[in-house]
Amino acid sequence: MEGKYPNLSKPIKLGNVYFKNRMFGAPMGGTDITADCTVGPMSTAFYEYRAKGGAASVTVSELVVHPKTEGSHMYHLDLHTPGSLSSFTYTADAIRRHGAIASVELSHSGQYSGTYLTDKDKKEGLAQWGPSNGTRPDGREVKELTQDLIDEIVEAYGEKAALAKKAGFEMVMVHGGHGWLINQFLSPYFNKRTDKYGGSLENRVRFAQEVLDSVRKAVGEGFPIEFRMSGSELFDGGYDLNEGIEIAKLIEDKIDLLHVSAGTYQRGFGVTHPSMFLPHGSNVYLAEAIKKHVKVPVATLGGLNDPQMMEDIIASGKADVVEMARALLADPELPKKVVTNKDDLIVRCLRCYTCMAERAQTATRRCTVNPIIGRELNNMEILPAAVKKKVLVVGGGPGGLQAAYTAARRGHEVILCEKNDEVGGILIGEQAIPFKYEMYQLGVTLGKLCESVGVDIRLNTPVTKELAETINADAIIVAAGSEPFLPPIKGLDGENVILINNYHHEKEKVTDKVIVLGGGLAGCEVAIHFAREGKQVKLVEMNSELSPDANVRHRPLLLSEIEKSGIEVYKNHKALEVNANGVVCSNKENETLLIEGTSVVCALGQRARRDIVDELWNSAPIVSQIGDCVKVSTITTAVYQGHHAAMDV
Ligand SMILES: Cc1cc2nc3c(=O)[nH]c(=O)nc-3n(C[C@H](O)[C@H](O)[C@H](O)COP(=O)(O)O)c2cc1C
Repeated sequence: MEGKYPNLSKPIKLGNVYFKNRMFGAPMGGTDITADCTVGPMSTAFYEYRAKGGAASVTVSELVVHPKTEGSHMYHLDLHTPGSLSSFTYTADAIRRHGAIASVELSHSGQYSGTYLTDKDKKEGLAQWGPSNGTRPDGREVKELTQDLIDEIVEAYGEKAALAKKAGFEMVMVHGGHGWLINQFLSPYFNKRTDKYGGSLENRVRFAQEVLDSVRKAVGEGFPIEFRMSGSELFDGGYDLNEGIEIAKLIEDKIDLLHVSAGTYQRGFGVTHPSMFLPHGSNVYLAEAIKKHVKVPVATLGGLNDPQMMEDIIASGKADVVEMARALLADPELPKKVVTNKDDLIVRCLRCYTCMAERAQTATRRCTVNPIIGRELNNMEILPAAVKKKVLVVGGGPGGLQAAYTAARRGHEVILCEKNDEVGGILIGEQAIPFKYEMYQLGVTLGKLCESVGVDIRLNTPVTKELAETINADAIIVAAGSEPFLPPIKGLDGENVILINNYHHEKEKVTDKVIVLGGGLAGCEVAIHFAREGKQVKLVEMNSELSPDANVRHRPLLLSEIEKSGIEVYKNHKALEVNANGVVCSNKENETLLIEGTSVVCALGQRARRDIVDELWNSAPIVSQIGDCVKVSTITTAVYQGHHAAMDV
């Protein structure tokens, strides 16, 4: 078969091991870690999902090599804890049985040990160890590792690598980036030692070299070792790309794959895990620069989800391997779709950070566009239904499309009626905002996926009770979505006012002096977009906070973008009237003032479309309602509820 992406699909040999293509699954923390730090069955299923999807390798993270000096509640692997080795063996096996190479990330957080520990009492009892004495940003004391402890940790890397090999892993990844212990030794910012591990670059690299020697001794020649490093720490005082190149040169003969990531978790989260505000592939330049100076194969990653871009990266020699984390949550079958030329069916990652926010807040895993993530074992496998039914889905937004897709995959006869002339619902408007384009694409792709499984999509078809009764479905899933909420503010019907949902049709009406009314998530994002277009932007919000509806990972980056973009923010300003000169507001002190602007984009929220639910609630034996028409919420909620409504038919 003629492949569209021959470079991505081509096998590669690292050490003595053959990898079936160039698309590797980057490490992502597991969903359940048992009380004694072994891999739970849910996590095994979480990793297996990506192996099934066709990734050449799947890396299990993060195996803490030396629990004595690293108290984070992550995976431990030892011979004393019952179930420890066996859990890793089952996990490696689950990955390998799909033809993917199982790898495990060997890690130590160093001075950041315990940062992500959800048990705060336990955290209080921990000691943090780093290359040098110091105080962490959260005020906790960091103790300098003694030579004895360094020797123990170096040895522990080897011990854990040997156990991983015993468990059936065929590669190990040594985590030397993102601000964790090995990175702390490499960094002039963290490492102030005056012994053989500090000072010159050669000395700062010594710890990494000793770790890699210890791992090599444990696993033997030919067993691939991948080293993850940040090509540059990307903050003042950290090492830069030039030093990154030198570090790479000093370790390359000890490894089989150099994995070049970027920045640090603590000081550049939105760069290490590139946010939607950055271009795709924003960190590739680091791998490309380093690759020019080393012979060892190089991997790159960061915000990669477009097959053509990834193909070009390999074809042009910028890297030998591409790795993906979030893109493989959104669509674990991405690699399979690439090698079978079905790339138009790839559900793309939105870079919305739902995955990372859920982890931070509830220690669970979720993906906005993939309802199965984190719930792989909850009877989520899509099997043919015992009794085939006729299902009518009302509304072609993300929830309705997901419902139709899942129902059709279960073998039901599915009709989806959409009142507009295209599917996508509220996502259609996102096409006008470049950094949210994937949200628009989600609607398009879900539409194609529905077509691929035979959903009968009827556009320009509003559903009335009569139509529903004529269709005579066994089940109706109402996914009617929401409509803009318009408070009784004088002048909102004016010529200079554009509803955010209509912006993609009315772009030319937005002038160079624009006021965005409403500082929720949608308002903040469109304001950033206008500022990027060079417009003078004023953002008016009646509450004291901007975008409280954004998740904990996205929000800080959103607020920093607003600040960087020079947007004038008016919090605690209630709009009273819109006129040709701008928006008349009252402020906290109850003063009335005019915020000047020549056009006004209205982002005052949405409200549930209940009329359709009220009309259809008894038009079939089973009627379910999902997404915004129940309660205005997120794409995540709509997709998740749509999937489950279809599973329940
Ligand atoms: C949900 C999630 C969990 C992650 N957990 C880890 C981890 O345990 N260890 C690690 O080295 N990187 C971890 N990462 C970082 C990724 O491996 C990757 O470097 C980063 O997300 C950038 O790649 P991406 O843009 O393809 O997502 C995680 C990323 C995500 C999204």
